[in-house]
Amino acid sequence: MLKVKGALKVFNKGTINQNVALRNVDLELKSGEFLTVVGSNGAGKSTLLNTVAGNFPLDKGSISIDGIDVTSFPDYKRANLISRVFQDPLQGTAASMTIAENLVLALKRSSRLSLKLGINSKREEEFKEALSILGLGLEDRLGDKVGLLSGGQRQALTLVMATLEKPKVLLLDEHTAALDPKTAKNIVDITKKLIKEYNLTVLMVTHDLNQALDLGDRTIMMDKGEIVLDISGKEREKMTIEGLLEQFSRARGSRLSNDRILLAQ
Ligand SMILES: Nc1ncnc2c1ncn2[C@@H]1O[C@H](COP(=O)(O)OP(=O)(O)O)[C@@H](O)[C@H]1O
Ligand SMILES: [Mg+2]
Repeated sequence: MLKVKGALKVFNKGTINQNVALRNVDLELKSGEFLTVVGSNGAGKSTLLNTVAGNFPLDKGSISIDGIDVTSFPDYKRANLISRVFQDPLQGTAASMTIAENLVLALKRSSRLSLKLGINSKREEEFKEALSILGLGLEDRLGDKVGLLSGGQRQALTLVMATLEKPKVLLLDEHTAALDPKTAKNIVDITKKLIKEYNLTVLMVTHDLNQALDLGDRTIMMDKGEIVLDISGKEREKMTIEGLLEQFSRARGSRLSNDRILLAQ
């Protein structure tokens, strides 16, 4: 369903700040697969998600979604296939607009609506039903401005907006990292519920190793622009946080010794 092939992304190419953020990354996700992505700061996790979302062109490689080659599609042309939730709860919603207006914008993402903001009673019912899954009472506050909501409520609304029109791929980039632990747990529960309800294909970046092993059905670890671990099934069930950390330093170590051999030549 999602195929990333030989993705190479170099920032500031040919300058002193040249930075290879993705080194020929191959990744295939089956429909309905829920992948968690871990790795240290700067490992290339967000770049991988940005690449799938089409925020910038690749230096090499290709991306296809459901058999459609989207490599040359800019982000707005992929928006009907992909939706995304960022770390900052303020980023996904418009504060000065009501909950209902925000949801209409989410429908427009897939161009189901013309530019006119249309809210009729049928649509209102649809919104209420989608919001009621959250269990936060937002279904009774359709006319409230989003700026009145807490960070957790806004992130929950962003999740509903991202899934209102089932996307082919849902991208979550540390979407609970900016929330307090209790709210984060609530958002994780909501995330699980929505993904299950709509049987979504998901790439979720998290810095929480516990969360990475607990959620979804497959985990990859990235380091310096490469996928250094890819586990699922029994292997993943047996994996512990200590095991992940060990794998991480092993990958680091082997790369360092490879570098040493290269440098010695
Ligand atoms: N727009 C950009 N311009 C220049 N360098 C970038 C840009 N985005 C990311 N990078 C660099 O690419 C590397 C990978 O970054 P990123 O994918 O954000 O890492 P992660 O999300 O794993 O922390 C980092 O070294 C980062 O500084
Ligand atoms: Mg990141």
